[in-house]
Amino acid sequence: MSKEQAAPRETAKQYLQRNNLHLLFEHMAYKVLSERPEDPNRAIFDYIGAKIGVDTKAIKSKPAEAPSHKVVFIIGGPGSGKGTQCEKLGTDGYCTYVSTGDLLRREQELDTPEGKQIKEIMKSGQLVPKAMVLKVLKGWIAKQPKGTTILLDGFPREMGQALSFETDIQPCDFAICFNCPDDVLEKRLLQRAATSGRADDNLATIKNRLKVFHDETAPAIEYYKALNKLHEIDANRDIAMIYEDLKKLFVKEEAPASAKAPEAAAGQEEEEL
Ligand code: AP5
Repeated sequence: MSKEQAAPRETAKQYLQRNNLHLLFEHMAYKVLSERPEDPNRAIFDYIGAKIGVDTKAIKSKPAEAPSHKVVFIIGGPGSGKGTQCEKLGTDGYCTYVSTGDLLRREQELDTPEGKQIKEIMKSGQLVPKAMVLKVLKGWIAKQPKGTTILLDGFPREMGQALSFETDIQPCDFAICFNCPDDVLEKRLLQRAATSGRADDNLATIKNRLKVFHDETAPAIEYYKALNKLHEIDANRDIAMIYEDLKKLFVKEEAPASAKAPEAAAGQEEEEL
């Protein structure tokens, strides 16, 4: 057995304690809360700089750029109706939307090693690696006209995605979470399995998708709740009732956006055939 295998990995708590990081975080929070600086990120940067002996005062901050889009995340378990409701919002001109699942399904059709990897992962119900998801998402967002309200169906699925999107792209305006019991979701997806042709609409994979949702996505939901950016929707109701609640969160675009970006819409047509 190699040395690496023999040594058990320390827990997150042990790591924080060994490096005294809990104290560092406490001090930073205390400093920011007591001084209430105009730019808290900069204050934290200067604080860390002082700790490691870097003169951060000489490093100029880039002026903040205005976000180019309004971004709304739609989060919810598999079968909670994310796609159904996003399509309605898009058709009625509230937003332009894309499903990360649809984008990835298109990628998996490409005859590339990445495409093959994505296909296997989606078939199992696991999450596609963050870097791949962000790459396709970034590409899609870059094609949307500035100022558009974009709705991302099925993103983020875990904290890493939430944080990377925030730092690499922009913070979201708000997130919506569709709540629905697992047994209802399972029933809906098994019903859909008869016609969807989706490799992940089978009982074993549905159960895995639900597990992944509870294990991986739940912390991201808590994150938006803590930021006061989360709207929770009871998705165990009639489609029309859910839509009535959802519409209240949006303002119609002045010039109604096309419901779905052309390439994502094409993916959907293929699925519906
Ligand atoms: P994705 O394609 O996004 O699938 P999902 O999240 O599992 O969700 P679904 O599309 O199955 O359901 P939905 O919530 O959109 O519900 P729908 O409206 O279709 O993702 C698939 C895979 O891709 C993931 O497992 C992962 O591998 C990968 N992936 C995707 N995004 C990723 C990311 N960000 N990071 C990493 N990996 C990612 O409705 C379902 C059914 O219910 C339909 O038949 C519908 O008619 C019916 N229905 C809808 N609403 C109601 C209602 N209110 N009452 C009764 N029936 C309803």
